[in-house]
Formats: sequence, C-alpha cells, structure tokens
Amino acid sequence: SWEPGRVEDCGITVWEFGATGITRRTGTEIDAWMRADTKRPGLHFSPIRQWMNDPNGLCRIGETWHLFYQFHPSGTDWGPMHWGHAVSTDLFHWTHMPVFLHPEQNCWQLGATGGAFSGNAFRDRDGAQMFFYTERLPAYDLFSGYREIQKLARPGRGLVTAESITTVLETRPDGVEHDFRDPKVWWDAVRGEYRMILGASLDGDPAVLLYGSENLLDWRYLGPLYRAPARFRGEGARAVECPDFFEIDGKWVLVMGFVGHTDPVSGRHNLLYALVGDFRDDRFVPDNDALQLLDFGTDFYAMQSCAADGRQIAFAWLFNWEDRKPPGSPYSGEMSLPRELSLDASGRLCMAPAREFEALARERGEVRDGAAALPDAPFDLVLTGGLEGARITATQAGGTSFEVGVTDGVLWVRLPQDDGRIRYDARIAPEADLRVVHDRGIIEIFADGGAVCGTRRNYKHTSPDALTVTTNGRATISHPEA
Ligand code: FRU
Repeated sequence: SWEPGRVEDCGITVWEFGATGITRRTGTEIDAWMRADTKRPGLHFSPIRQWMNDPNGLCRIGETWHLFYQFHPSGTDWGPMHWGHAVSTDLFHWTHMPVFLHPEQNCWQLGATGGAFSGNAFRDRDGAQMFFYTERLPAYDLFSGYREIQKLARPGRGLVTAESITTVLETRPDGVEHDFRDPKVWWDAVRGEYRMILGASLDGDPAVLLYGSENLLDWRYLGPLYRAPARFRGEGARAVECPDFFEIDGKWVLVMGFVGHTDPVSGRHNLLYALVGDFRDDRFVPDNDALQLLDFGTDFYAMQSCAADGRQIAFAWLFNWEDRKPPGSPYSGEMSLPRELSLDASGRLCMAPAREFEALARERGEVRDGAAALPDAPFDLVLTGGLEGARITATQAGGTSFEVGVTDGVLWVRLPQDDGRIRYDARIAPEADLRVVHDRGIIEIFADGGAVCGTRRNYKHTSPDALTVTTNGRATISHPEA
C-alpha cells in the first residue's frame, strides 16, 4: 500500500509545439489557459486538449477523488483509447495528471482503433487499489471485427501510471459475439467471493453478464444478470455498454446503455436506463419490468458511479455522436456535474448535483417574472410551486439560446437546432420542483426530486445574455463560481 501524498507534485506538464518553438506549460498556466477559453464550461470537467469520452475508474482515496476517462491524446476525434486522469478534493477543482493507461502497442502498429476501453476502480479486501477495464484488440481477422478482453491494472505509486497489467478474461461464453466489455467488480460479502459484470450481446439481445472469482484473476461465467426484452432488439439495440450495478438503501440498481437503440416514440437515442430490485443468489430481480429512463435528453451517457464518503457519486459523458463541437475547439467532451444518487419513496433512482455544488453558490436571489440581464457566468435556477405553464427562456443577442417549460404536465426543453423530429420531454408530477443549471451551453435539468432529469448541449450559444422566467410559483437564481 502507498500513501496518497501530495498529488500536486505530479500534476501534468504540457509541451506546446508552435511556429516559434516549444513552450512548456505547467499546472497554473494550463488552468489559466483553460479558463481563458470563453466557450469552455467553468463548472464541468473537460480535458485540457483532445478527445474525451466515458468516465472511468472513479474512486476516492484518502481525501482525493480520482476521475479517469476515455482519452485520445492525438486528436479531437475518437481514436486509440487511453485513460486520462485528474484528481480533486471537492469534485469541482481538478488537477490534470499524466495519462494513466496506454493502449496495447499493436493498436498503434496496425493503425487499428481500439485500446484501453472503459472500466472501474476496485479496492480488494487488503486495501489494494486496482482497475478492471477492457482492451479492444484488432480482430483475429484484422478487417472484419474486433476482440474485447478484460484486464486488471495495478497502479504504481501515487496512481500516476499503471504498472502491472494482467489479462484476466479472454474467453466469451456461447452466444456472445464481439461486444464483451466495460467491467465492474465488487466484493460479494454474502457469497464470500468477487463478482464482475460486463456489457454484451447475448444471442443478439443486449445483456449484462455475471462472473465470479475467488482471486480476481480467474473468472467463471455465472450466466446473464439481465437480458433486455425482445422489443429492444427490434428498436436497433445490439448490446449493453457501461453497465453499473450498486446498492442503495438495501436495494440494487442496474444502470446501462443499449448500443444502437432509438426510442420509437420520442426518436431519442444515446439513452441510459435503470432498474431497481433485489440481488440474491446471483440473481437480479427488478421490482418492476419498466425501465426507468435516466435522462430525457440525448447528451447524458456512459454514467459511472462509485460508493465513497457515504454516498453514491456519479459522472456521465455529455455528448451524442450527431452533434459535435464546432471545428477549432482544442478539445471535445465534457462530464456532467458530479451527482449524488438516491432512491425516492416510489423506488425511482434520483440524481442531484453533489453537495459540494452548494459551496460554490453565491448569494441566491429572487427572480421576478419578465426579462433580466444575465452575466456571462453559470447559473443555477430553482422553481418551486405551480410549475404548470412555467417557462424559462435564455437568449443571446436576441436569439433563443434555450427554452425549458411545462405544458399540460409535461416538462420539455428546446434548443434552436431542434427540428421537431426528436421529443425532449418527460411527464412530471403537478407538485414537482425544477432546477436548471446552465454552464456555457450545458443545460442540466433536475425535476421531481431528481427522478426526472434532462441534459442538453448547445455548442453555438454558450453565453446567453438575458433570461425570461414565467412562473406561478417562486424562482430563485444563484451564480455558482468554481
Ligand atoms: C461507451 C463506449 C464503451 C467503451 C468506450 C470506448 O461510450 O463505447 O462501451 O468501453 O466507449 O471508448
């Protein structure tokens, strides 16, 4: 075991190759450079440069949170996957660390995509910190597929790089084709053994597979933990990705994404679903079969959570493949606000900004009906009482930046780019509350105690300058500062 020590000492240095030579940039300079980017969100985590996707390896060691992420360090598009890394003591102010995991050498040599895919952090009963993840390899046949195998990475001192890497699972069960990835491991105290789940496709249906192990190195297949109903295959779903499975208040929660799925009613894709139930004798029995949609936007994906500090903390990747950052941006991809997960009285999974968010709030003031000037700063707007007919309109230079409203018990969000083909809405209870956090084009909506959430991304209008709020109840605003 090692001491966390002074993590600042190993923060990242960036070398910039310019026309006039090479400039070395260190922590505070990088921070200043990132803050000077007027299109970059201030409260939401983003990589210094280049491409980022899923959150990975989320954990807390001592007082320090570690956030790893899918990272392509040589481009603003997806490519051979590395694990980027950052640390924080409050989930909002991050120190960027060197790349933690590199893809297998052969991905570079053969020019194929792949590399160190998503996975989770795990601490064994002796307190040893480790990470399980998927390595995607160019296929047996390079041109017609790929192969996914599971690996265990043990970190070196201070978690700066992965020091030893072991392959722990290569063979797929019958009926499981290429997709076989994104491990999450936990210690099952009842069984006295380790358990792991993987996202996969089982005979063509999206599925979550369950494995068991006594030593974390040899894993045996215990069968599917969950298999999606047939209708999902009909709606384009091919496999489960990024399954998360955790316990809250004695109930077990399964969260997952379905690759390829489009909801036929709303037209939405890139969705996450949750099921709440019991996990006993290696069987997961949901309380009811209806999958809870975790977000009614299309920009909240690959959520990963971890149990730490007496809470279940989660991040998700705010992105969908159809809507990209305009060219010229030094990076692509942002994380959601850190969120705390809970269950409400009716067993719904609820999300709220992590409590550290409240510490960033500045004075909270009442919002009167009608238009008011907005400073170019994040805002946190809360509406209570009488949501029916409520409307929030943010404008930039007179044009709409985004609108949120409630009509006939339906909460909706609209961006200028919407053409009506996709419905971004959800039914809410008449007495529901509503919170809208805006940060440079990121719109995160929390309603009905956090059981109804919606996330959208407007890359074009990132600095609305006026806000109009209409409500029958009360509206208050604060401008949190990171
Ligand atoms: C989800 C995902 C994961 C995979 C990773 C690759 O966005 O496709 O299933 O591990 O991204 O970058």
